[in-house]
Amino acid sequence: MIYLTGDTHGYIDIRKLLKNTVTEQMTENDYLIICGDFGLIWNFKREIRKEKKWLKWLNKQKWTTLFADGNHECFPRLNSYPEKEWHGGKVHEIRPKVLHLMRGEIFELEGKSIFVMGGAASHDRGPAVGDTEQVIGRFWWPEEIPSAEEHAHGLENLAKHGNKVNYIVTHCLPTSLQELVKKGKYAPDAATDYLEKIYHTVEFDHWYCGHYHYDLDAEKNVTILFTRILEAGKNVRDSAMMLGVPKYRRGEAVLFRNNGDEMIGIVKEPYPWGTLTKHDEPYYDIELFSEEKKKPVVKVRESQIIEKSLIR
Ligand SMILES: [Fe+2]
Repeated sequence: MIYLTGDTHGYIDIRKLLKNTVTEQMTENDYLIICGDFGLIWNFKREIRKEKKWLKWLNKQKWTTLFADGNHECFPRLNSYPEKEWHGGKVHEIRPKVLHLMRGEIFELEGKSIFVMGGAASHDRGPAVGDTEQVIGRFWWPEEIPSAEEHAHGLENLAKHGNKVNYIVTHCLPTSLQELVKKGKYAPDAATDYLEKIYHTVEFDHWYCGHYHYDLDAEKNVTILFTRILEAGKNVRDSAMMLGVPKYRRGEAVLFRNNGDEMIGIVKEPYPWGTLTKHDEPYYDIELFSEEKKKPVVKVRESQIIEKSLIR
């Protein structure tokens, strides 16, 4: 079966793939497509220890992980992995079971055709937020927007397929849908305008993207993914809610129950995907009030928190 999910952002949101009701059912015959912002090829120099650890973890899972690129990838490194033909299209092989689906390619999987066009404009770093030159090539790369050649390559491949595919996988939305869901907060660019053209000229069963960090059916057959892991062809409304949206934020004071007592503390760190051993709800590190220099920290489940506290 083919499954899809939204941004994993390296070792931050990949934790959504830890054992849960969807991933525990997945087998050797399954594929999981991440719709951009994979984020495990991120350090600007080399594969660092944390990247290696999670790539190894992914490679050990039963399913095969496939990803479109987003805007949070280190493109020079991503493009340096060996290129190979795979199921009718080109991939970069990161690990034998972790493959980057290259831009403009069409893959045939389980009798379904999948057109992939990664890339999107960053809204949190780089020129959009006036970052200095120093971020270029370290935390932001101009290749996040596909080149004219990559766009043309995609159109050529689509034309060869009679402008008809089963699924489209991208990181961002076509301009008109982005406008509809973000209401002017994200400016159109070459990537969204290109997708707008595809949206009107290519016949498809379902389109999946990431980028916006929530789960939403923007249209009957256009779905934005973040926390959900969906079977291809399904909508957000057909799926169960998953972890990933903590109610409380870092720095907030909260009233909570702990071993029969009610306590107040400050959220130091939210864990949206649970802890390494418990993945049934978000967890928090909560710092207790104390005269000590090193204040005690307790691990608290979201369901232990009664409410935000006005007393600090
Ligand atoms: Fe993202």
